[in-house]
Amino acid sequence: MKRTKMWGAGEMKLGVHRRKHSGLWSAIHAILPVLIVNSVLAVDTTLSELDLSTIRQGWGKAQADKSVQEKPLTIAGEVFEKGLGTHASSIMYIELDGKAEAFRAKAGVDDEIGASPASIVFKAIVDGRTLFDSGVMKAGDKARPVDVSLKGAKMLILFAGDAGDGINFDHADWAAAVIVMADGKPRAVAAPKEDAVILTPKPGPAPRINGPKVYGCRPGNPFLYRVPTTGARPMKFSATGLPAGLVLDAVTGIVTGTAPARGEYKVTFRAENGHGKSEREFRIIGGDKLALTPTMGWNDWYAHYNRITDPMMREAADIMVSSGMADVGYQYVDIDDCWEAKRGPDGNIIPNQKFPDMRDMTAYIHAKGLKAGIYSSPGPRTCAGYTGSYKYEAQDAKQIADWGFDLLKHDWCSYGEVAGGRDLTALQKPYRLMGDLLKQQKRDIVLNLCQYGMGDVWKWGAEVGGHSWRTGGDLGFELHRIFQIALRNCEIGQFNKPGEWNDPDYIQIGYIGSAHGMGHPRPCGLTPNEQYSFMSLWCLMASPLFYSGDMTKLDEFALNVLCNPEAIEVNQDPLGKCARVACKTNDTFVLVKEMEDGSKAVGLCNQGEFETEVVANWTDIGVSGKQRVRDLWRQKDLGEFTDRFSANVPRHGVALVRMAGR
Ligand code: GLA
Repeated sequence: MKRTKMWGAGEMKLGVHRRKHSGLWSAIHAILPVLIVNSVLAVDTTLSELDLSTIRQGWGKAQADKSVQEKPLTIAGEVFEKGLGTHASSIMYIELDGKAEAFRAKAGVDDEIGASPASIVFKAIVDGRTLFDSGVMKAGDKARPVDVSLKGAKMLILFAGDAGDGINFDHADWAAAVIVMADGKPRAVAAPKEDAVILTPKPGPAPRINGPKVYGCRPGNPFLYRVPTTGARPMKFSATGLPAGLVLDAVTGIVTGTAPARGEYKVTFRAENGHGKSEREFRIIGGDKLALTPTMGWNDWYAHYNRITDPMMREAADIMVSSGMADVGYQYVDIDDCWEAKRGPDGNIIPNQKFPDMRDMTAYIHAKGLKAGIYSSPGPRTCAGYTGSYKYEAQDAKQIADWGFDLLKHDWCSYGEVAGGRDLTALQKPYRLMGDLLKQQKRDIVLNLCQYGMGDVWKWGAEVGGHSWRTGGDLGFELHRIFQIALRNCEIGQFNKPGEWNDPDYIQIGYIGSAHGMGHPRPCGLTPNEQYSFMSLWCLMASPLFYSGDMTKLDEFALNVLCNPEAIEVNQDPLGKCARVACKTNDTFVLVKEMEDGSKAVGLCNQGEFETEVVANWTDIGVSGKQRVRDLWRQKDLGEFTDRFSANVPRHGVALVRMAGR
């Protein structure tokens, strides 16, 4: 709908009624009856005429003159012919060139959601100032009129955000929305693009030993540990305190041998090259527990799905070393689903042709000082429809050990058909069975449960033999929810401890395939800040750190996010604590993780759409006096702070710092 008013002619064109200026108009008309000005004034552009493909929103697609689900725009029974149907969090940038007069609309939650618990905040932000804020609007609330002056403004941002309880059901309508413009046309433009800024300095040539400070192994089993060390090669490695039976290769820094008897062994690793020396204390704990710090590695799933092959696994192991990932602690190279063919006459599982020699493949991975992981499902079929372990559990456990694998991810798919119920005993049975079987093998095999959190698995995953357990569904389907997932995981953070890890699924930055339809790897779609946030949150939660993108397409930015040893140190801290939420507003929250040395790792998180100041008050984070604060992404000391530390955190960003008293 356009409304055009011609000054001087005394006529309204296009059959449009006079607006507020009519008094003024009559006066001018009376004084200057013959004046004719030929310019066009006050054109109303409906919002739905603009390019809606520029809108960024949390669910579905923005619709012109329809709700997000393509029904008539309806707010509290009032039906609107024109307007924009969108979904929180929704953001639209409109350039005005300083020529607009006003934005008018009626904002509200669309009736199409029925009585569902929506809650939306609508905002109109003009050149950085919020000139309209609807407050929390719920389903059934009458449409709220918006009338905002745009005089002289360059940019209007229309924002419909969730009101602190997630975006579910937040169908947001900007109904009857028009921009009144004296001259020209408003233009919807894409949200400003973030630059992929590399924050972390490259590791220097001098050695720096990274990785965990504590390591669990079962007495008598094969032992393998590559001392993760950045710095120029060649490098000379040495150790004091290594228990008998273990040998450190001075050139590769790989420790091999037989795990020592039950007990704690204090070891010091040293690395030296022409540029300097590094030393690191390391405790080896012989006993029942494995994975005393969160497991770190790579899993092929979100990159390669059913395309995975033996050469691709070997290549991933090569890249884990050549890219420097192994030098900061990445260790496991895991094949996920889709390697299985069928059972042979003896019942043993036979891999498909893409995996001609599993034992040779794990030997290849081990020779690099890395470990190998594999996948199965307790049901008759895996999630991708391949042969599962049902009724062949003992054979599979033995086969996995014989092949030389060091980790098993055990899914749930198709087990529901044979579980005989969903009570706790039924949920636990397949994992208890596999957990016991793996313990009987003469290898240390880490067990990762993948049953999406059913039956509050965090309460019993360790008891049935698991070392980590997925806390939810596949993150590949809900990558935009990393902040909410982190908040949810922190609520069950007390179940996170050495050898027992909540697993919110893999890190998906860089190039990843589409979880919808097993698509080929493409840039992940997360902004640079979201990628930093992903890693920061996973480090603060002490989650297993498995990269699951395409190793062959790792670029400098992705590696800088994945490989910051100071961020990883937060993840690998021996206390194994998950961060707690120290304080929270609608858009921001502060996470605090207790570290073994008494320092705190703090994440100042902004899940909102705009850069904002996030404050960490000492009272909230449980410190007092002067605190030395270090920016972990930039590896830079920020100085001493008293009472509080604050940072301007970008959209969907996290400022990750570590602080310690004097
Ligand atoms: C499930 C799991 C994924 C992956 C696939 C394999 O969806 O959650 O992580 O292992 O199965 O089919």
